[in-house]
Amino acid sequence: MHITLSAQPVMPSRVEDLQSLQERVEELRSQLNHHNYRYYVLDSPEIADAEYDRLMQQLREIETDHAELQSPDSPTQRVGAGPAAQFAVVQHRVPMLSLANAFSADTLRAWHERITRLLGGDIKDFAIEPKIDGLAIMLRYERGRFGVGATRGDGSQGEDITANLRTVRSVPLTLNDSPPAYLEVRGEVYLSQAAFKKINDERAAAGQPLFANPRNCAAGSVRQLDSRITAKRPLDVFIYALGEAQGWQPRTQWEILEAFGEWGFKTNPNNRRVGSIDEVMAACAEWEHRRESLDYEIDGVVVKVNDLHVQSELGAVGREPRWAIAFKFPPVQATTLLERIAVNVGRTGSLNPFAVLRPVQVGGVTISQATLHNEDDIRRKDIRVGDTVLVHRAGEVIPQVIGPILSKRPPDTRPYELPTTCPVCGSPVVRPEGEAMSRCTGGFARCIAQRFELLKHFVGRGSMDIETVGEKLAWSLIEKGLVYDPSDLYPLTKEQLIALERMGDKSAQNVLDNIEASKHRSLTRVLYALGIRYVGYQTAELLARAFGSMDQLRQATYEQIVAVEGIGPKIAESVHAWFREPDNLRVVDKLVAAGVNMSEESATRGGPLAGLTVVVTGRLEHQTRTQIEQRIKDLGGIVGDSVSKKTSYLIAGEDAGSKLAKAQKLGTPILDEAGFEALLEEKSHA
Ligand code: IVH
Repeated sequence: MHITLSAQPVMPSRVEDLQSLQERVEELRSQLNHHNYRYYVLDSPEIADAEYDRLMQQLREIETDHAELQSPDSPTQRVGAGPAAQFAVVQHRVPMLSLANAFSADTLRAWHERITRLLGGDIKDFAIEPKIDGLAIMLRYERGRFGVGATRGDGSQGEDITANLRTVRSVPLTLNDSPPAYLEVRGEVYLSQAAFKKINDERAAAGQPLFANPRNCAAGSVRQLDSRITAKRPLDVFIYALGEAQGWQPRTQWEILEAFGEWGFKTNPNNRRVGSIDEVMAACAEWEHRRESLDYEIDGVVVKVNDLHVQSELGAVGREPRWAIAFKFPPVQATTLLERIAVNVGRTGSLNPFAVLRPVQVGGVTISQATLHNEDDIRRKDIRVGDTVLVHRAGEVIPQVIGPILSKRPPDTRPYELPTTCPVCGSPVVRPEGEAMSRCTGGFARCIAQRFELLKHFVGRGSMDIETVGEKLAWSLIEKGLVYDPSDLYPLTKEQLIALERMGDKSAQNVLDNIEASKHRSLTRVLYALGIRYVGYQTAELLARAFGSMDQLRQATYEQIVAVEGIGPKIAESVHAWFREPDNLRVVDKLVAAGVNMSEESATRGGPLAGLTVVVTGRLEHQTRTQIEQRIKDLGGIVGDSVSKKTSYLIAGEDAGSKLAKAQKLGTPILDEAGFEALLEEKSHA
C-alpha cells in the first residue's frame, strides 16, 4: 500500500519504517479479528484474555503514535467514538420486511395449507429459527469490509447506527473467504438475560429507571448517540437473512445461513432444517418448552420456506412475505396494579414480602401474586403500593415483579417500608448485619408462623412425606395448639383429629396411618425434616452417612462435623449450634420416644467402606466410572468429586490428570482397579 505523508520532505528510511509498521498493523488487526471471531462468534477462544489485551495494546500504541495508520475498521475502534448530534438516514435498497404472526398451531397449519394451495403442491422443506426478541438491523459490506449498519426503521429507511454496531463484538469488521463484493445482511441485535439483569441491577443501584426487558435494553443501547455508551453494553447479534449479494445466487435459506457462518457472521446454532409441516409444528411446540433454557429471550419461532425459488413464487403481501411466518408464544410479561404488599414469615423467621396483584394473564395463566425478593430489592426498584407494575412469568418459575411503570404512578404513593414488627406475632423485627432478610425475633416460642412453616417443611415431600397433613390441617393443628413442634404429631389421637373441623373417622385414621408410616423414614430425611439452617437434602445425606445415627451427630464436635467431605464451616457451625439448643434437643428426644428411626437403616452404613471418602479419576479398564462409584456408595463409602485432605483413597485409571497430581502432592493413597479390589477384600474381612 502507498502512503502519502505530510508536507515535510520524507527521508527514505522513514518511508521504510512506515511500510513495515503498516505491515505490523495489518498483521495485528488480522490476528485480533481472528481471536475476536473465535471468542465472540464461535465461543471458543484460542488465546488467553491477557494475550488478546497485549496485542490490542500494541496496536493501540502504534495507531496513537501514527494517526495516518488509523482506520475506522480497526479492532481498536470497537470502544466507540464521541457523541453524534443525530443519526443520519439510511435508505434500504431492498425493503426490510416484517413477518405475519401465528398465535396458535391452527393458524400455523392454515398458513401451510394456504401456501400449498397457492403453489399447487406440498412444501416439504423449511428452515426453523428461534425468533430472537431484539432489534432488527442491517449490515452492509463492501469488498468484505463493514461499511454501514442501520436499524430497520419503517422498512424503507432506517437510522445509521454504524458507529454503534462497530462496537458489537460479534459484528465482523472484515469478512473471511471471498464474500460478494457488495453484501447486505439482516439480523437481530440482542442482549443476553445475564447482561440485561446486570445492567438493570446497576441502574437500580444508581437510582436510574429500569429497562422493562432485554429488547428495550438492547434497543436503548444500540440507539445511543454516544457510541462509547453502546460499547459498554455487551450486545450480541444473530444474522438470519440476506438483503442483497452482488454476483451470488444462493438456492436456499439454509445455504445462505451456511455462507454467513463461513464469512464470519454469527448465526444461531439452534437453527434447524425440517421436512414437513408436522415437524415444523413439533419444533415450535418443543421451543415453547425449551425457551427458558436459552440465555436470550425468544418470543417465538420463525418458519421459512427453504427454497428461494419457491419463496419468490409465493411473494409478499404488502410488507409481509407469504413464504415465512412467526409462530408466537404467549407473552411472558404483562402490566397490572400492585394492590398490596403482603409479608410471609418463613420457617427461620425471615420476612418475605410479596406482591398482591390485580389478577392478570401472563404466559397463558392468571396470576394474582408475585415475589418481591426482599426489602432492598423493593427499594432499589422503588416499587410502591398503587403502582402499575410490570410482571414476568416464564415456564415453571415463580412470577416476579420487574418494576414500576413510573409514568402511571398516582401522585399519592409512598416508598415501601417493611413492617418493624412481625405481622404474625408482633415481635420486633431485626435485620442482622450483612444479611438481605429481616427476621422476626419472636422465635419459635412466640411466632406461630415459624411453627407452621416448620411443620409444613417436616411433613413435606423430601422430608417425612406425611401427605395427609396438608396446609389446612397443619394450620389447624398449630392454631388449636395440638402441635407445637413437629414431634407433637406422633402422640396425636383419633379423637383429637376428629374434633377438628371437617375431619371424619376415616380421614383421621388415614392421617394417623400416614404419621405412623413416617417413623420408618431414613435418617437423611429426618435430618432434613428438622429444618436446620443450611441443611438441604444433600447435606443431610452426607451427615447421615458420615455419622450413622442421630446420637453420633448430636455428640459430634465442630471439628468432626467440618471434617466430613462436602461440609463447609458455615454448615458445620449451624449444625453444631443446633444440637446445643435445649429446645431442639427436646424435639429430638420426643421423636426418639415416639419411635422415629434415628439411624441410617440402609445396609450400607457399617459397610466395608464406611467412613471413607473415595475419589475416582481417569479411564478404568473393567468397569465404568458410574459403576465403580455406585459400588463405593453401596459399600458405605462416600464418593468425592475432588481430591482434598479429606480424601481417603484415589482410584486412578488411565490418563488420570490433575486429580492424580494433587493426590501425589497430598500423599493420598492411590489405587488402581486391582488395588481397589484388594482393599475391599481386606476391609470385608476386617
Ligand atoms: S426474518 C422476511 N428471522 O422478527 C424476513 N426475523 O416480526 C423478515 N426476527 O423484524 C425477518 N428472529 O426483527 C427473521 N430468525 C429470524 C428472526 C427474525 C427475530 C425478528 C425481526 C423481524 C421480526 C418480524
